[in-house]
Amino acid sequence: RPSLKMDALDGLLLEEVPLHRIARECGTPTWVYSAGTLRRRYRALRTALDDAGLAATIHYATKANDAQAVLRVLATEGAGADIVSAGELRATMAAGIPAGATVFSGVGKQAEEIVFALGQGIFQFNAESAEEIEMISAIASGMGVEAPVSLRVNPDVDAGTHAKITTGRAENKFGIAFEDAAALYARMASLPGIRPIGIATHIGSQITGGVAAYREAYARLAELVRGLQAQGLPVRRIDCGGGLGIPYRDEIPAPPEALAGAIKATLGDLGLPLMLEPGRWIAGPAGVLLASVILQKQAVNRRFVVLDAAMNDLIRPAMYEAWHGVLPLSPVAAKAETSPADVVGPVCESGDTFARDRALPMLDPGDLVAFLDAGAYGAVMSSTYNARPLAAEVLVDGSRHAVIRPRQTPEELLAHQRIPDWLDAVPA
Ligand code: LLP
Repeated sequence: RPSLKMDALDGLLLEEVPLHRIARECGTPTWVYSAGTLRRRYRALRTALDDAGLAATIHYATKANDAQAVLRVLATEGAGADIVSAGELRATMAAGIPAGATVFSGVGKQAEEIVFALGQGIFQFNAESAEEIEMISAIASGMGVEAPVSLRVNPDVDAGTHAKITTGRAENKFGIAFEDAAALYARMASLPGIRPIGIATHIGSQITGGVAAYREAYARLAELVRGLQAQGLPVRRIDCGGGLGIPYRDEIPAPPEALAGAIKATLGDLGLPLMLEPGRWIAGPAGVLLASVILQKQAVNRRFVVLDAAMNDLIRPAMYEAWHGVLPLSPVAAKAETSPADVVGPVCESGDTFARDRALPMLDPGDLVAFLDAGAYGAVMSSTYNARPLAAEVLVDGSRHAVIRPRQTPEELLAHQRIPDWLDAVPA
């Protein structure tokens, strides 16, 4: 993790900024993102695709981290976007990613969202059902426009990821069954308001078992595309999806060069423009979640480190048994002797456990820790469960840092709620 460094005096730094300084200024829990890491990873992916000789565009999966400042960093790099709601489209456009570089994914796009995206000149819809295609056709022809639509195909491969984030199996809700794809694509070509653009897939997330699953899925896509072309149907581009994993613990995910190689080997001969939808690979390693120790509790045979961050902030451990590194910020604690501890939050659920039997030094109230690799699917998945305000977010860039979203205030938490006045009316 090149952007994180332990300094003998200042403790853990993100780029050049001591994290304890951010904690002191902003309080905890606080998300901190490295602009340098975002840029470096975007560029590494860009370079891997270019070096493989692939004409591919990168459409950052906004859902991974939709902070305006994060999106702006990527917009400046020239990234396009992958979005799944009108809200995400508003977010990406506000940050400077044009709708004309944005693909609209998702199994349940609503009519208003389709109207909005068409009005903004969306680059492409990835359609996931015959029903959705009929809906887009009706809306687009009503508006007197043609919707650019790709068909998201479910290649029925097992990407070997956590059951809750795999998407490319036949039993998942995503995409069109491979067997039905050709007929539906032909039907698309005959519908008013639809311009068939190509084929898309996305086989899962946090893929770490090499590129075999990608190869298998893309080989099936290539076969499908050749079949469509043989029927005289136009195919203009192929969307390869996202899913490339990152090392949270000891996983060894394939590097982007290997993914580029797999794409080249399977889809290269078609000579079509390609698209990628990476989220986690770009944003995950770029973020940490800072938390303070409230207290350390010694129970029978177990030491609990109770933090001021909880499952409402970072839900990945509770939801997917996900492993996130936990590092003390202080240079002294980082060198101290460790023993196993459970790292937990204050929320009233046993599931509010970040880590079990983690090797950690003795920690005192007020000591600071960082959860690593929390830049993707972190803040975006947080809630206010237990009436806990949403945490602050900070962007670091070299020696600079700035709050990009202030901590939610207790007043804001209550602000949009109402009590109907008839609740207080005296019964007749
Ligand atoms: N494209 C589509 C159509 C997707 O559904 C996703 C993620 C991506 C791209 C980006 O995938 P990535 O490159 O980030 O793996 N909340 C879960 C992950 C859910 C992923 C959902 N779809 C987690 O925290 O692990």
